[in-house]
Amino acid sequence: MATPAVLTRPEPDSPPDRTRPKWYRRPWIVPLFVVVGLFVAARLPSYLTFDTGDSLVELQDAFPETHYLMLSGHILFGSIAIVTCSMQVWPWLRQHHPKVHRISGRVYVFAGVVPSGLFALVVSVVSVVGPAGRIGNVLLALLWFGTTFAGLAAARRRRFREHRRWMIRSFALCTSIVVNRVWLFLILMVLLPFQDGYYGGDMDALVEDAAVVSIWMSWIVNLMIAQWWLDRQPRRGKVRERTAPAV
Ligand code: HEM
Repeated sequence: MATPAVLTRPEPDSPPDRTRPKWYRRPWIVPLFVVVGLFVAARLPSYLTFDTGDSLVELQDAFPETHYLMLSGHILFGSIAIVTCSMQVWPWLRQHHPKVHRISGRVYVFAGVVPSGLFALVVSVVSVVGPAGRIGNVLLALLWFGTTFAGLAAARRRRFREHRRWMIRSFALCTSIVVNRVWLFLILMVLLPFQDGYYGGDMDALVEDAAVVSIWMSWIVNLMIAQWWLDRQPRRGKVRERTAPAV
């Protein structure tokens, strides 16, 4: 008896599918690399000078040099993570150069997420931002580890669909650092009219509130967008499945 044909998405290690859109038809790839490149170019140099005065975040008075060095480690490895994870989600690179995908995937996990995430846990705890912000950052670091290692474990078991889903969540968490700056700006704009009334002129309290809200919103909203994006994929697949001719 003939079995119905089911169209499945090719696994990352499959040979290149020439019917797929060209790289320039993915309108988000170039903006992604531009934004990530600008972020790294704007932030990383301040943490490579070994000068605590260059830090863009407030350092702990009790141990500024150690705090600065931990931030430097976090941001150096974080830069490796954010560049390699942007490469990982580029479909053209995955399909045409699967070996590069595998190598940069290992670099992402072991030279990016692991060292940067460990430093992130420490800088989250010693950050001058209050407890609500610290908890938000610690949770972000733990989820970053969790999603990345779930994705790595799935790839090792050759469960590539599961791998893709976990790594998209890992990507959403990794890039939340960039979106964080946008949220911070927007929330400051929303809170500024309350500076004299609710905050009684206390600008520091206003900025602290904006920082805490932006920490939480950046990764929660990114994760929600990633989940929405993942959930809408199977529906498209089902439509293709239903319309596939039987052979
Ligand atoms: C996803 C997990 C991450 C967590 C939990 C995390 C956490 C933190 C924390 C707690 C700080 C110190 C903030 C303060 O003391 O006020 C910080 C600073 C910073 N992080 Fe991360 N981070 C993460 C990922 C990344 C990535 C992937 C990059 C990419 C380069 C990055 C770049 C930076 C930069 C540049 C700063 C310094 C602040 C600034 O200059 O704007 N982080 N991070």
